[in-house]
Amino acid sequence: MKERHGRDASRRLLRSIVRRTGVAMADASGSYAVQHLPEWMAKSSFDFAAWRRLWVEQNPRNDRADLARLVMFVENARVIEREGVPGSLAELGVYKGTTAKLLHTLFPGRTLWLFDTFEGFDARDLAHEHRTPNGGFRFDDTSLAAVLRYVGASDRVRACKGYFPETAAAVPGDETFALVHLDADLKKPTEDALAFFYPRMAPGGFIVMHDYGSGAWPGIAEAVDAFFADKPESIVRMPDKSGTAIARRVKR
Ligand SMILES: C[S@@+](CC[C@H](N)C(=O)[O-])C[C@H]1O[C@@H](n2cnc3c(N)ncnc32)[C@H](O)[C@@H]1O
Repeated sequence: MKERHGRDASRRLLRSIVRRTGVAMADASGSYAVQHLPEWMAKSSFDFAAWRRLWVEQNPRNDRADLARLVMFVENARVIEREGVPGSLAELGVYKGTTAKLLHTLFPGRTLWLFDTFEGFDARDLAHEHRTPNGGFRFDDTSLAAVLRYVGASDRVRACKGYFPETAAAVPGDETFALVHLDADLKKPTEDALAFFYPRMAPGGFIVMHDYGSGAWPGIAEAVDAFFADKPESIVRMPDKSGTAIARRVKR
């Protein structure tokens, strides 16, 4: 009890120091992370706390403090709107819908394509990189219905349940994309997604590739580096937990 009071008091002190020094503070599941927000967020009425709540409400424990990734999405959504980059959004690797909901909230007027088995990894993809199903990373404790309830079952949300790239057949031939978020963890679906989405990106469109710098999923960097080796776009790395990388489709 005494120990808890001590902890609460030091938290209060830390909060007060951080507030007084004008730095935004994030509660990182009991520990603390301090992150500068972009100046426009910190010095306007922008309600970062509300976005942070959305980000952490069902995010896995170790991603809750990955606020750099949240800020990256918010910042680049503004770029897309400001520059008028046309097109829909897509996500490969939805799981319970954390980033899907963020994308839908950032771009409520745009179609959001969601691709997932909603039953976890496919054995074909695991075999491709000689992996066996791993108890910690199965992603099978979700469902399409639950994700639609969470993200919002609007007619702008087009969820394609099943094995990607087979499910990509649902996308009309003339569809273009302003932002695509690749978060499938594995090499094979990432290779397939780059091949599918790259030619459909609008000029200036963002391909956001999660886990490029991840030690857990080395296949992502292999797939991305091989794909972009003969493309005019360069990869730019983000300072978030799993080393997200971004490529913007060049303007032709
Ligand atoms: C890391 S999770 C996605 C996390 C999610 N973006 C979030 O916000 O929490 C990876 C997901 O990719 C999906 N996935 C991997 N390979 C796939 C494939 N070939 N087809 C469809 N879904 C796939 C898995 O089912 C899993 O739900």
